[in-house]
Amino acid sequence: MKILCICGSPRGKNSQTKALAGKVLKAAQAQGAGVEMVDLSEARIKFCRACEACHQKPGCVLRDDTNTILAKVLKADGLVLASPVYLNQITAKLKAVLDRSSHFVHCMCLVGKYLAVVTTNGGGGGTQVQAYLKHYGITVGAQCVGGVDAKGPLKPADVAAAAALGKELVAAIRGKKQYPDQIESLEMQKQYFRKLITLRKDDWPYEYQFWKDQEWL
Ligand SMILES: Cc1cc2nc3c(=O)[nH]c(=O)nc-3n(C[C@H](O)[C@H](O)[C@H](O)COP(=O)(O)O)c2cc1C
Repeated sequence: MKILCICGSPRGKNSQTKALAGKVLKAAQAQGAGVEMVDLSEARIKFCRACEACHQKPGCVLRDDTNTILAKVLKADGLVLASPVYLNQITAKLKAVLDRSSHFVHCMCLVGKYLAVVTTNGGGGGTQVQAYLKHYGITVGAQCVGGVDAKGPLKPADVAAAAALGKELVAAIRGKKQYPDQIESLEMQKQYFRKLITLRKDDWPYEYQFWKDQEWL
């Protein structure tokens, strides 16, 4: 079992978010999972240029660290998305990575995988950012096991919640847990893209073929 964390803080080793996400990974590792932290402060990430080449064939045409990171996501069973709250949103660097995963949305590439969300903030905005990242999970086909949000300096309760989240993530992956409230949202997402991919099959032939290969069409 592999669990990958992508941390969007620019503060590297000083990041509270990375420290908290590290507790999630540590707990997952204690349950037997292989874990990896991708620290975006060390990554070269360019912005999406909307060329749409990713809908024609796998991967992004831009040359930086994004393709490597997205390939790791596809190989992982579980994904931890971690970000400090910046003006009530995720950081721009994490958003840039998510924008570059647009093909994951069209093909719901994370069906069968599980997501956990980690946020920290100075006092507010965690609820919106947690909701945003959980919704991203639905758009790419993943079920979210939950999240941890820390306000201000990390407290023992935050660390305990992060450890519980790591344990829950491993248990969900192992037990192929189903979250009934999310199944409905995933089905609606699938219905929407089933129509769109069919409508645009001449523009996106490789994605159309992917849907056919999955027997989703
Ligand atoms: C540009 C910027 C914007 C921020 N916006 C918010 C915000 O909207 N709400 C909030 O509560 N904290 C905000 N903060 C505080 C951070 O979310 C908080 O310090 C966080 O724990 C930093 O995480 P890190 O150590 O992982 O980088 C902001 C900080 C920065 C630098």
